[in-house]
Amino acid sequence: MPRPLLTRHLGRPGRERIDAYLETGGYQAASTALRDLTPEKIVEIVEASGLRGRGGAGFPAGRKWKLTPKREGEARYLVVNADESEPGTFKDRTLIEQDPHQLLEGMLIAAYANQVHQAFVYLRGEFFAGYDRLRGALADAYARGYFGRNILGTGFDLEVVIHRGAGAYICGEETALLESLEGKRGFPRLKPPYYPAVKGLYGQPTVLNNVETLAHIPHIIALGVDGYRAYGPPVLYSVSGHVLDPGVKELPIGTPLREIIFEHAGGLRPGRTLKALFPGGSSSAILTAEHLDTPADFEPLAKLGSMLGSSAIIVMDDTTCMPAVIRRTVEFYRDESCGKCTPCREGTIWLSQILDRILLGRGRMEDLDLLDGIARNMTGTCFCPLGESVPPSLRASLRHFHEEYEHHIKTGACDVRPVAAAGA
Ligand SMILES: Cc1cc2nc3c(=O)[nH]c(=O)nc-3n(C[C@H](O)[C@H](O)[C@H](O)COP(=O)(O)O)c2cc1C
Ligand code: SF4
Repeated sequence: MPRPLLTRHLGRPGRERIDAYLETGGYQAASTALRDLTPEKIVEIVEASGLRGRGGAGFPAGRKWKLTPKREGEARYLVVNADESEPGTFKDRTLIEQDPHQLLEGMLIAAYANQVHQAFVYLRGEFFAGYDRLRGALADAYARGYFGRNILGTGFDLEVVIHRGAGAYICGEETALLESLEGKRGFPRLKPPYYPAVKGLYGQPTVLNNVETLAHIPHIIALGVDGYRAYGPPVLYSVSGHVLDPGVKELPIGTPLREIIFEHAGGLRPGRTLKALFPGGSSSAILTAEHLDTPADFEPLAKLGSMLGSSAIIVMDDTTCMPAVIRRTVEFYRDESCGKCTPCREGTIWLSQILDRILLGRGRMEDLDLLDGIARNMTGTCFCPLGESVPPSLRASLRHFHEEYEHHIKTGACDVRPVAAAGA
């Protein structure tokens, strides 16, 4: 297995200091990019690398940069999506806290490639340590001439503002993020016309990328397309739940779920079996043990009606009550719904009320069809992907674990053994 690329230096004490970063070749890729490469050449290299956005949608990064109009004299912005609120996802926080200069270097190259002179990092408000480290790293990088005016004597200017969010999941959605960054309520915008690349921040062309996406950029420039692709290409999986060694696992994209869980995340607790998993955060449809040999990649997971999303794998063993997991998940979307459209605002409330009564032992058999019907009616009718994220898991759980729901309704009790009784 190739050694890690993005996570190679994570966990090293003092890594957030610029000298530690420079000692391992830091900012050399940016220096090469600004001094020896044209912006167009960088876009070409990033496109050829095959890098796909790591924020969830998987849009090819090079294509997004190509789509951004670069008209002379027109303001353009770079916005880093560091909101990372998808349940189960913690790769961006890890990168920000443990190697902030890697992100800053990626931003510098991305800004140069798109001829942007003003960048923003929209940082999740709860990332207290991340904010301190990133702010400190940025100040050091400014002091050494990697940001500000006439960077490295090349005549290129770039200013960066770190903006802290106030803790709303919807503000990770790119258009809601831009509304919030403009000081407004975080409501999603209509697409089209508000595709950020063409009509983004303050109505101007805006390159909006995820933290991990940008952290790949220095490596693509440093290694070249073939050198970078030899690493997989790599992807950061956040693995959590019922595994013995949870954490951020950097692996070649498409590593089978079984290998990720059992070889890289320590496997399950002794005596336990796998019951279900979310392969791409709570917005992805749950899968079961029969799907373990699926490559954790965009297309294979889409074929199963699920998705890679932010590559957050949440593992659940046989001590898990699935209706309770789904209720908790629906509650999350209910609470985070921005309320702009009816199917999501009302649908999530209704679903959570029905799930509540099932789990409280007051459910009716017809509730199962009602749940499925509401989820069906939400599909394709929500204004943004937040509401659309609810039906896939709910419907998958009804398919795979129908008997468990029925048991709750018939007996008013849960048939999953409690953890203590299971001796785990
Ligand atoms: C409800 C919702 C929440 C999202 N949260 C995030 C997030 O926290 N971080 C992120 O990078 N992308 C998030 N996204 C995806 C962004 O809208 C966008 O696709 C992404 O930031 C683009 O960057 P990329 O092309 O580098 O992946 C979210 C999308 C939705 C619908
Ligand atoms: S789907 Fe939900 S989060 Fe998205 S606009 Fe509608 S109410 Fe808001």
